[in-house]
Amino acid sequence: MDQPMIFLMMLSILLSFSSASVVDFCVADLNYPVGPAGFPCKNPATLTSNDFVFSGFSVAGNTSNSIFKSAITKANHHTFPALNGLGISISRLDLAVGGIAPLHTHRADEMVLVIEGTIISGFIASDNTAYYKTMNKGDIMILPQSLLHFQINIGDIPAVLFVSLNSPSPGFQFLPLSLGSNNLPSEIIEKTTLLDPQQVKKLKNVFRGTN
Ligand SMILES: *[C@@H]1O[C@H](CO)[C@@H](O)[C@H](O)[C@H]1NC(C)=O
Repeated sequence: MDQPMIFLMMLSILLSFSSASVVDFCVADLNYPVGPAGFPCKNPATLTSNDFVFSGFSVAGNTSNSIFKSAITKANHHTFPALNGLGISISRLDLAVGGIAPLHTHRADEMVLVIEGTIISGFIASDNTAYYKTMNKGDIMILPQSLLHFQINIGDIPAVLFVSLNSPSPGFQFLPLSLGSNNLPSEIIEKTTLLDPQQVKKLKNVFRGTN
């Protein structure tokens, strides 16, 4: 066989492998339970362009119900099924004047982009060094996976942030909320945090925890 022939044969073998194994997308079928790899796919024949568009960020989140004067609107694989199986998601964070995204963590790297306002954003590294900075409209900060981080609106107008995360399901865990809304006995929280009993009581009351 001459060389071009061998080349063509190899190409056709490669192409047949790729067309058999590549899936362009897997829009979540939310009727099934989610597993570590995400949801099963919706039948592609039922999809339309609308499945690939999320319109939930056009209005500000309502910050008036939050003790932190903040609201997060999440586009993750639950609210935007097209993200299923893709290593990406995005959220809108609204911070009223004085509003706060309390210390939190998630299993994804974050890029936060300031759209409106002036904030302090920062994180605490695993050696307990803190990196924090005042950020203005157009600034981006990296918040590495799993490290505790926060944002505070220090300006005199509401702040709008967009947060990109390299997971379709980042799993937000807000520290004050986690401490206050759980069903652990208060003594265990006191022992494991060095918080005073009245501080634990306050957190349990505010975030409606039990025990
Ligand atoms: C925000 O929520 C409060 C309390 O539920 C409600 O009274 C208010 O109308 C809401 N604001 C907007 C802009 O939807």
